Amino acid sequence: MQLEGSSALVVGGAGGLGAATVRRLVAGGAGVVIADLAEATGQALADELGERAIFVKTDVLSEDSVNEAILAATDMAPLRVSVDTHGGPGGGRTLDRDGTPLAFDEFMKVVQIFLAGSFNVLRLAASAMSKNEPDPDTGERGVIINTASIAGYEGTIGQVAYGAAKGGIIGMTLPAARDLSVVGIRVGTIAPGVFATPAYGKALDAIEAEWGPMVPFPKRMGQPDEYARMAMAIVDNPYFNGETIRLDAGIRFQTKGTRS
Ligand SMILES: NC(=O)c1ccc[n+]([C@@H]2O[C@H](COP(=O)([O-])OP(=O)(O)OC[C@H]3O[C@@H](n4cnc5c(N)ncnc54)[C@H](O)[C@@H]3O)[C@@H](O)[C@H]2O)c1
Repeated sequence: MQLEGSSALVVGGAGGLGAATVRRLVAGGAGVVIADLAEATGQALADELGERAIFVKTDVLSEDSVNEAILAATDMAPLRVSVDTHGGPGGGRTLDRDGTPLAFDEFMKVVQIFLAGSFNVLRLAASAMSKNEPDPDTGERGVIINTASIAGYEGTIGQVAYGAAKGGIIGMTLPAARDLSVVGIRVGTIAPGVFATPAYGKALDAIEAEWGPMVPFPKRMGQPDEYARMAMAIVDNPYFNGETIRLDAGIRFQTKGTRS
């Protein structure tokens, strides 16, 4: 996918994995919309990167809000890349120690933000991309990248909602790619292992100390730029489609884990 003369949308672009992806896309020549709820960090990143990066306050659950971010992108250039890295709430165990079930609302909120939010971005980005002229070399109109988690395959204790949501993202990847094949839009998903981002807050050092040694090789958490490089590889490779790729340096979650 040609980035020069294209725009890209990075939802969750003010966060750890998202900001690294914004930097790579800008360096690759795209105009980038940083679409995120977090105004201060999103605007600061846009100010740092100059005229090819714009911040638009965006909530993945709002059609109007996501469309506003897409419009800001298409005002720069045709939207050819959408990467969704938005975060959301934690969740909890199916039953707590007293036998109280996880609140239904809490489960629904996690699934709504992570899974339905990802589909909202995917469908609206696909609609904008479907109006593009196909790339003369590859026939592509666009590429959409979702972010799942290895918890979508092997969720740990306390990840019943998060694992369901991330498993849902993995499950929608192939049918979405099949749906969008008629318009030349590819869909891929990255399932990260454990990455050092602001999502862990003050617990980051403790998590690195505990989880780093459990990673087969390299024995450390992933760096956000390693996620961004995978996203760029998917953008670059016209034959990657309909698949979820684990990016975890070989780690497999056991029964207890982090919140990833
Ligand atoms: N960091 C990890 O170890 C890890 C591992 C596996 C999967 N993931 C997934 O990767 C994605 C990014 O994680 P991260 O570590 O970069 O998190 P992060 O907290 O650094 O960034 C997430 C960003 O999403 C934004 N956001 C939250 N709710 C939003 C909404 N409703 N609309 C728009 N933006 C919203 C936040 O403001 C934040 O800037 C998440 O989906 C996470 O589940 C992360």
